[in-house]
Amino acid sequence: MGEGIELCAVVKANGYGHGAATCAAAAMRGGATMLAVAAADEAEELRLHFPHVPLLVMGALTEAELRTALTARAEIAVWREGFRAVCWTMADELRVPARVHVKLDSGMGRLGERDPAKLIELARACAADDHLELAGVWTHFATADEPGDEYLDEQLATFAPVAEALREISPGLTVHAANSAATLREPATHFDMVRCGIAIYGLDPFHRDPADHGLEPALELRSYVADVKRFERGASAGYGRRWRAPSETWVGVLPIGYGDGVRRGLSNNAEVLVGGRRYPLVGTISMDNITIDLGAETDVEPGAPAVLIGAQGGERILAEEVAGRLDTINYEVTCGISARVPREWAE
Ligand SMILES: Cc1ncc(COP(=O)(O)O)c(C=O)c1O
Repeated sequence: MGEGIELCAVVKANGYGHGAATCAAAAMRGGATMLAVAAADEAEELRLHFPHVPLLVMGALTEAELRTALTARAEIAVWREGFRAVCWTMADELRVPARVHVKLDSGMGRLGERDPAKLIELARACAADDHLELAGVWTHFATADEPGDEYLDEQLATFAPVAEALREISPGLTVHAANSAATLREPATHFDMVRCGIAIYGLDPFHRDPADHGLEPALELRSYVADVKRFERGASAGYGRRWRAPSETWVGVLPIGYGDGVRRGLSNNAEVLVGGRRYPLVGTISMDNITIDLGAETDVEPGAPAVLIGAQGGERILAEEVAGRLDTINYEVTCGISARVPREWAE
């Protein structure tokens, strides 16, 4: 980020599975000045931890959710005239000013007003309202994670003139557009503030190796070997007997499963680190257990720490590797780690 550009840390979905409040605090220690979430409840929860930090709710809100968001003194997204009117009424009733960020759909095809002229008109109405404050104008990119793609430039060309027009209406407003990929890829997308999620967790928005952009994953998913047992040739592990020992071997049982967010699609299709070595995950993933093939000879004993995502010895398993095996993205892997998994934080 260039000089003077602010960082809004995106900590929705429990901080992409990492723990929202702890990550938010870390992000602010690192220089973030705003926190963004998708839902009103998330803002309400964060407000308990951070009484004075600016919060932005990026998602659509029902009237009840709007009430929650405004009560939490969160800033909100507006793109329809009807919703502006609801905001005015609610702000009047709650006797709080509603700080609004008008959203242009510059090509994502989701939330936001498509017509630049209509958005400018809406922004004028917001700026003129006594209970509303025009706090920002924003958009979101569809292809920032696809370097070389020209669609980002098209979206930028649609958004930039609208942003300039709104600066004239409200000179102090915050213009923001970039997610992590755009922030890393294209400085012209930075405007006044960037909204980074995946990168603040040290994950790669481009789905390769975070180290390519100097990022270091913050999260490790750890378990341990609860049991080690001898398998004769042909003995099977797990539901459906989807793995049978091809020869005599030792099998380790780890008390973690899809109930913790280790997706069943990784059955017979993942590796786990024990003692700094990779071992294949064998058999079907259960809700609460997985099995790994330790080989014909092993010194692994019950109690040995195991790593499903993270580093051990010289080896590491990236969330991006797990995502690749599941034909998904790193976001879904960490968001999928369930509430049952205790989060521990190191300084
Ligand atoms: C509107 C909006 N802005 C910013 C972000 C952050 O994106 P990223 O995690 O790719 O940085 C998201 C996340 O999906 C989003 O929905």
